[in-house]
This record gives sequence, structure tokens and C-alpha cells, in this order.
Amino acid sequence: MPVFLSELTLTTALRTAATSAMAARWLARPDSRVMALIGNGAQSEFQALAFVGLLGIQTLHLYDVDADATRRLVRNLAPYARTLGFDLHPCATVAQAVHGADIVTTATADKSRATILAADAIGPGTHVNAIGGDCPGKTELDAGLLQRAAVFVEYEPQTRVEGDIQQMPADFPVTELWRVIAGEAIGRRTPQDITIFDSVGFALEDYAAMQFMRHRARAAGLLETLDLVPALADPRDLFQRVVEAGRDPAPSRAATLSAGVPA
Ligand SMILES: NC(=O)c1ccc[n+]([C@@H]2O[C@H](COP(=O)([O-])OP(=O)(O)OC[C@H]3O[C@@H](n4cnc5c(N)ncnc54)[C@H](O)[C@@H]3O)[C@@H](O)[C@H]2O)c1
Repeated sequence: MPVFLSELTLTTALRTAATSAMAARWLARPDSRVMALIGNGAQSEFQALAFVGLLGIQTLHLYDVDADATRRLVRNLAPYARTLGFDLHPCATVAQAVHGADIVTTATADKSRATILAADAIGPGTHVNAIGGDCPGKTELDAGLLQRAAVFVEYEPQTRVEGDIQQMPADFPVTELWRVIAGEAIGRRTPQDITIFDSVGFALEDYAAMQFMRHRARAAGLLETLDLVPALADPRDLFQRVVEAGRDPAPSRAATLSAGVPA
């Protein structure tokens, strides 16, 4: 029985940023203050604000192959930067962006085996929030970088197919993030560790986000009722709906197609 129907575009941006920040809270060094944001597209404002608000990031280094994307990001974030007190630094290269960054977020979209971060691109202690390598044939991190790091995933069977670890052997060690949160596994072991959150986005995140949206929309009086499923006295007597519709001399389209179930 469908109970809630929602768009999942804006919601995806919110849930992805929330998940990234949650992972970083468990994996990044607590003193992280500088984040490089590589790929300044649709997700980037949400990622930036989540890390400023939830991680205490004070400086953002921004890089995109498309300078217009970075300009848009700066324009959109500027009022928040003034109010919340963080700095924005557009950069000319990936190397410039990652220099001095405690956290590196990669949110690029290129349907290919891209290498946004080479094996030696980042130094010890960095946390990488890799959200752009999220389907088969699409990666952002060099295999050598994955080998240098402790890698954390949402749901291992899915990430082996869709994540950056699709390039790695089937026995490449990874840890599901929930195990760290539940105290069953260790996240960052030392301040020098490189940690990677190899994020692909999975169904439980969408489900949790939609539960949250439904709760908030109901509280704000924003829900509309849609008639999708017939309410029948006897669920096996589905044909009853056809008979009832036939009795109506001029059945409306809505009356014929739906049965008026208040959600
Ligand atoms: N892990 C998740 O849960 C999750 C959720 C949403 C989106 N994503 C993925 O995150 C990525 C970004 O999503 P989006 O909605 O912001 O996409 P988008 O298309 O709006 O933006 C992508 C940006 O990456 C830039 N880019 C492409 N190649 C680059 C490179 N080599 N170096 C620097 N920048 C480069 C593009 O110019 C563009 O501005 C996509 O791959 C998307 O599939 C993942």
C-alpha cells in the first residue's frame, strides 16, 4: 500500500549531504577545518553547508573543470558565508584545492573511470568523502589511493558494484559505516590515517529521508491526499469497482480510476 509519494531530487541532495557529514563525523579528524570541494554541481551547496554546520568547516577550497559552476557556487554560498562566517576560495587545479585540506569531497559527474584524485594527491590524516563514483563504470579515485586508505561504505554488496572499490579485487577490505557507529568496528585509528567514505547512496537513506519528509510535511500541513488504491469491503471482489463505476450514469474519470481512499 503506497503511503507517501515524493520527489527525490532535492531530497537526495539533502540526504546525501547529511550522510556525508554523518560519515565524516565518525571518520574525519575532529579538528578538521578546511574542506576541498571538487565538482561544484547540484550537490555542492548542500555538501558545503552540511560540512560547515555539522563538522565546523571554516574554509572551503572549490574546484571544477567548469569555472561557471564554481562561480555559481560562490554566488549561492556568499550570503551564508557572511552569516555563518566561513571562507570560500576558488582554485585553479585539484592540487591547489586539496593543498591544506583536512577533508576532500569529490562530487564530480563524468560517466567514466576518471581519476579526480591520484594515488599521491593527498597527505596523511585526510578524510575523503567520495560521492561521485556511484555507478558501474564511474569512479573518481585512483586504485593506489584506495590502497593507502581505510575504506568505509554504506552497504558492501552494492558498493562493490557501484562504488570506487569496483576497481579493486573482491576481497579488498572495507568496513560498513554502520558497524563503526554501532561500536562494532573502528573508524579512524590514528590522526595520520587516510579514511575514505566510498559513498554510492542506497535505499535505506532514501527511505529514512522520505520518512523524515513525510513527518515534517504532515506537521506543516503540506500533505495532499491522492486516491491510488481502491478501498473494498471484500478485497477479493475487485470487480465490484467496475460494477459500481458502471452504475454511475456518467462516471467521472476520477471516480472510475480511483476509489477514494483517505490516506
Ligand atoms: N553518493 C551519493 O549518494 C550521491 C548522491 C547524489 C549524487 N551523487 C553523484 O555525485 C556526483 C555529483 O552530482 P551532481 O548532482 O552535483 O552532478 P552535476 O552534474 O550537477 O555536477 C557535477 C560537476 O562535476 C564537474 N566535473 C566533471 N568532471 C570533473 C573533473 N574531472 N574535475 C572537476 N570537476 C568535474 C562538472 O563540471 C559539474 O559541475 C554525480 O556523479 C552523482 O551521480 C552521488
